[in-house]
Amino acid sequence: MENKSLTIAIDGPASSGKSTVAKRIAADLGLIYVDTGAMYRALTFEALKNNVNIKDQNALVDLLDKTVITFEPDEKGQSVFSNGVDVTYDIRDNNVTNTVSVVAAHSKVRHLMVKRQQDMAQDNGVVMDGRDIGTVVLPNADLKIFLVASVKERAERRHKENKEKGIFSDLDQLKKDIAERDYKDSTRDSSPLKQAADAVRIDTTKMTIEEVVNTIKSLIKKA
Ligand code: DC
Repeated sequence: MENKSLTIAIDGPASSGKSTVAKRIAADLGLIYVDTGAMYRALTFEALKNNVNIKDQNALVDLLDKTVITFEPDEKGQSVFSNGVDVTYDIRDNNVTNTVSVVAAHSKVRHLMVKRQQDMAQDNGVVMDGRDIGTVVLPNADLKIFLVASVKERAERRHKENKEKGIFSDLDQLKKDIAERDYKDSTRDSSPLKQAADAVRIDTTKMTIEEVVNTIKSLIKKA
């Protein structure tokens, strides 16, 4: 199969390395990378900025209708825009990180987001990462990957990244936050984080990024 029509779904819990791996594979194979978590984050950012109650599903739907979320490739990998404004850094803010799972739990919000994500994959080969890509967004993806790693390992990776970026970081707090997000993402009623029956599970706890990327590339060749 030609690379340009390939669809690859990468799901997994918070900080499992999905976006780093997905970005690398998309760049190497010339596919579009779609970070669906960034879309839920962009909506959360807009809600907080515009004082929209994140528990009010209909208000969020109205806000989403007015919010155009786009991605643009650049030297850092990819930037995220909300109504034309670069929000790449803002959407990683702690305020957004700690509230996005509330926004992502609303079924009407998810329905609209899924439609947008499916449209992005309509005429393009994509590597899409998230929580429900293999199960809901791209059930017919050519390859489905489910990445996992221990909470301890994921917290340590995030801690290292924070320190490198000069951001204050508390390892114990990170472990608690990650475990809590796992719980919320996997127990919500609407499209919880769940491995698709036909997904390949890769435990990255003891693997380097390079090893994960190479494992997935060899699975793509076989797909
Ligand atoms: O991967 P991330 O941390 O950027 O995701 C942000 C939040 O959005 C997280 O709480 C899970 C949720 N999410 C989701 O529910 N469905 C997706 N396809 C992607 C992310």
